[in-house]
Amino acid sequence: MAFTLPKLAYDYKALEPYIDAQTMEIHYSKHHQAYVTNVNNAIAGKPEDTMSLEDILKNISKQPPVVRNNAGGVFNHNLFWTVMKPNGGGEPSGALADAIKSTFGSVADFKTKFAEAGATRFGSGWAWLCVTGGKLAICSTPNQDNPLMDISECKGTPILGLDVWEHAYYLKYQNRRPEYITNFWNVINWDEVAKRLDNAK
Ligand SMILES: [Fe+2]
Repeated sequence: MAFTLPKLAYDYKALEPYIDAQTMEIHYSKHHQAYVTNVNNAIAGKPEDTMSLEDILKNISKQPPVVRNNAGGVFNHNLFWTVMKPNGGGEPSGALADAIKSTFGSVADFKTKFAEAGATRFGSGWAWLCVTGGKLAICSTPNQDNPLMDISECKGTPILGLDVWEHAYYLKYQNRRPEYITNFWNVINWDEVAKRLDNAK
């Protein structure tokens, strides 16, 4: 198997009350697992079987929809679990805080713009904070697309991603996506975002 489901660094109930245990369990063990299984099946016996996920995504225009959707789903969820943690939240610090403030004015302004990107994504998709040409940028993508894909309207290295598919919040929040996004700030893992910013530069 080319790809495997990465271990979660916390248990299903660890992000309560902001993200409920049942949503976490289904999201990780069913949805994420399905993306892993489906992409592995789609690339079995093909050259992609030995390629890195990033290399597949960077050349996704050459792939059929089944690979685009499921390889994207694997990458996006791999990232998503790491940018959250129990007792997360608070404020970013160091180079990440400096970059956010110089790009967006303040952390509060950044949060507003990022939340807007997630709230206004029609249907299913993701909100992203990316490094593009050495600078930070906010954007969103539909379905399981992401900024690494060569077909993406917003290209860059994602350092923060928020899943705004209904499967990420519907059990607890129903149609209240903005409330889910507001609560996401209570579980964000700024250290991981800072690390990814460092690696992207
Ligand atoms: Fe998801």
